[in-house]
Amino acid sequence: MDKAAYRTLPIMEESGYAIVDRYDQQADPREWEDLVYVDWKSSGDTRFAPLASAYGDMECNGFWNHTPPKTDKDGVWVQENVDIAPILTRRAQEPGANIGRCRVIELQPNTYGEALYNLHRDDNNRLNPEGTGWIVRAFFNLTDDADSVMILRSDKDDPSTEVRIPMPAGQQVVIDTQGYYHAVWHPGDKPRYCLITSYESGPELDEWITARNPVTHIENHPIDPQVAAEGEALAQEKREARAAALAAKGADPRFGDGSMAVQAEKEVLSEA
Ligand SMILES: [Fe+2]
Repeated sequence: MDKAAYRTLPIMEESGYAIVDRYDQQADPREWEDLVYVDWKSSGDTRFAPLASAYGDMECNGFWNHTPPKTDKDGVWVQENVDIAPILTRRAQEPGANIGRCRVIELQPNTYGEALYNLHRDDNNRLNPEGTGWIVRAFFNLTDDADSVMILRSDKDDPSTEVRIPMPAGQQVVIDTQGYYHAVWHPGDKPRYCLITSYESGPELDEWITARNPVTHIENHPIDPQVAAEGEALAQEKREARAAALAAKGADPRFGDGSMAVQAEKEVLSEA
């Protein structure tokens, strides 16, 4: 996919992320506790509460996995959840840019190694017509997870490219999730909740970001070197086990497991 064929924002091109002013999350009711969550398959771990889905149904599948398929734009509001969470809906609409999927994620605690294994790039520009805006995602953290971090890497296998962005309550980060590998390391003992919204890059999003004191380079949230080393080893072990399992199933390594359905499932299961 040729990103140069799309409209992008200079501020997002600096580092792939922009952290904007923190939102006063504590002042709001905890609407996410009342939302309707959808189990993805029966994995049971990560759940989503859709506020906008491809056609307004209570489901979280990639927009391209529908009939007719569509890119991650023009999401349709899911009325039942919108009625439960009017403040979250308003926040998602605040930038005024075209919205694709919009949902609250419920992420169970995990380890650094699991997060590294989950590193992935989104496929949110699939079917996006060239000449239109590149689709990026905003993460508005709802629970106070100051020790949890959004991990970004430009090279999945190179720890030196890693950025760790802490996710306290009210943290607001816009990320080029198709350009950068990402996953959240959430070492807490309770689930983390975060509002994730796909936006089309354009003047509306640019204005929303630039009006909120964007930061595009931060000092990394610290990590214990031993935890880092153990995490790399665990992630490597899990990658090898997965490759072996795929090989046993006879998957052609040249094509990986890149079928649309498998790709969509993988993305949802490892979503941040
Ligand atoms: Fe993602």
